[in-house]
Amino acid sequence: MTPPTADTKLRLTGVTKSFFTPRTGTNTLAVAEMNLDIQTGEFICIVGPSGCGKSTVLNMIAGLDQPSGGRIEKDGQGITGPGADRGVMFQDYALMPWQSVEDNVGFGLRHGTPGENMSTKQRQERVAHFIDLVGLKGSEHKYPHQLSGGMRQRVALARLLANGPDILLLDEPLGALDAQTRLILQAELLRIWGETSPVSERKTAIFITHDIEEAVLLADRVVVMSTHPGCVREVVTIDIPRPRAGHARTNPRFGVLVEHIWSLIRDEAFRAIGGATSAESASPETTH
Ligand SMILES: Nc1ncnc2c1ncn2[C@@H]1O[C@H](COP(=O)(O)OP(=O)(O)OP(=O)(O)O)[C@@H](O)[C@H]1O
Ligand SMILES: [Mg+2]
Repeated sequence: MTPPTADTKLRLTGVTKSFFTPRTGTNTLAVAEMNLDIQTGEFICIVGPSGCGKSTVLNMIAGLDQPSGGRIEKDGQGITGPGADRGVMFQDYALMPWQSVEDNVGFGLRHGTPGENMSTKQRQERVAHFIDLVGLKGSEHKYPHQLSGGMRQRVALARLLANGPDILLLDEPLGALDAQTRLILQAELLRIWGETSPVSERKTAIFITHDIEEAVLLADRVVVMSTHPGCVREVVTIDIPRPRAGHARTNPRFGVLVEHIWSLIRDEAFRAIGGATSAESASPETTH
């Protein structure tokens, strides 16, 4: 690997993770010798067959799990545990059902380090700002059960952003949504990430998805992972100009990149779900 530059936000060097299962006495090598540099302000998507180690990698970057070998550095410092500088969002919203939208969004500010030096008024203003940013103004006093799936995921996004992380770690955050809501939230996500802002003002985002088109729409680079053990198969640069929302799918490169990424994971993806391999006639749409 090349030496880290001033813009290197995250560096994974020879990262390995094995899980020991006491019941069977076996070790599962989930991730092996993974190397990856991620630049400040980059939007990285990770795709790969089910079980290839995508969530395992994200959890280690979040500090929720430790590598068995190798090293993960953020801004040149080893990651030793979770921190408010890295915000994590999962597929299942993880909202607190007994709290209103504004209480959910403000949770980290009330209980964690990000809000420690803020007055109550400052916290309230920050919560209101992010509720507005994700398009939920007017729903502040609603509870999760009163919201649609798309609205709940907006709440989760606002909560993540309110804590002011500089890295967003997103594990299939749109995976549970219907197709139309998903398209809308993809565009929203690009806006909130800062697609129209200078790179220096963008957050660094790592986004896991099974949807190759979603990856090509969102990412600066798509990390394609192989399975057994999980490792980087290829890093594909998405050379489609930004802003992309609404336009990218009509760019001739879009289909070419989708097909290329699909060709990299096709056989393993079929094996992962127990199907036949190398189905030349299958299109990417049949997998999501
Ligand atoms: N806590 C654990 N204990 C034992 N094995 C685990 C554990 N977590 C993950 N694994 C194994 O590690 C491998 C990678 O799992 P991981 O959840 O990272 O895959 P993934 O790429 O996120 O899959 P999916 O696309 O289905 O979400 C799998 O073989 C999985 O069974
Ligand atoms: Mg996963």
